[in-house]
Amino acid sequence: MARKKIIAGNWKMNMTPSEAVALVNTLKPLVVNDEVDVVFCVPAIDIIPVLQAAEGSNIQVGAENMYYEEKGAYTGEISPAMLTDVGVKYVVLGHSERREYFAETDATVNKKVLKAFEHGITPIICCGETLTQREQGVTMDFIRQQVKIAFQGVTADQAKTAVIAYEPIWAIGTGKTATTAQAQEVCAGIRACIAEVYDEATAEAIRIQYGGSVNAATAPELFAQPDIDGGLVGGASLKPDFGKIVNYK
Ligand code: 13P
Repeated sequence: MARKKIIAGNWKMNMTPSEAVALVNTLKPLVVNDEVDVVFCVPAIDIIPVLQAAEGSNIQVGAENMYYEEKGAYTGEISPAMLTDVGVKYVVLGHSERREYFAETDATVNKKVLKAFEHGITPIICCGETLTQREQGVTMDFIRQQVKIAFQGVTADQAKTAVIAYEPIWAIGTGKTATTAQAQEVCAGIRACIAEVYDEATAEAIRIQYGGSVNAATAPELFAQPDIDGGLVGGASLKPDFGKIVNYK
């Protein structure tokens, strides 16, 4: 069965709740495309207003992060139950910005992935190399390690429903999209890694996105690659351009 594409916006730390509602109202008529899953991953404070504004559309709402404990004395964190209670279906985990600025590690990402599955939330698990790693020729070694640790303890049935976002760090927010060949090569490598860890059926089912300076011009070729099942879009998800990305065909 063909994998359904998943195109997600990652708003990062942008959009106040009132700006968020205005953006959803602008994008709503532009992202009508039942053939793809459309997810807006938004700051925690925007989740409820975005859910309300998106009602009646095919926009699904995701969080940008989540903690791995159930509840308790973890000031400033968001629990999985808080997300599911309002209808959040996806959560971005292990974004390179969280790894760089907020001390996320492969081990904490793994704990969050397990917790997300426990609560029926689909994790969008991020991985990606630095420019130095690419130049040193260790891209695939590094990403295989990130992926293998993120999936420790995850069953094949769970892994089939997961989303992996391959985001080379050097391509994020830089305007430097990876070439289509580079993106396809790594996404194929990630799928092969999943096949090794699990089996072919799991590798065939899991969805792998590319992220890093995706825009309306680069999306069609990227998303046409056999192992690229959509995108995780930063800057361009805050603009009407996102409508063109969702309707990339
Ligand atoms: P940009 O699309 O702004 O490069 O961001 C990519 C990203 O980090 C999405 O998670």
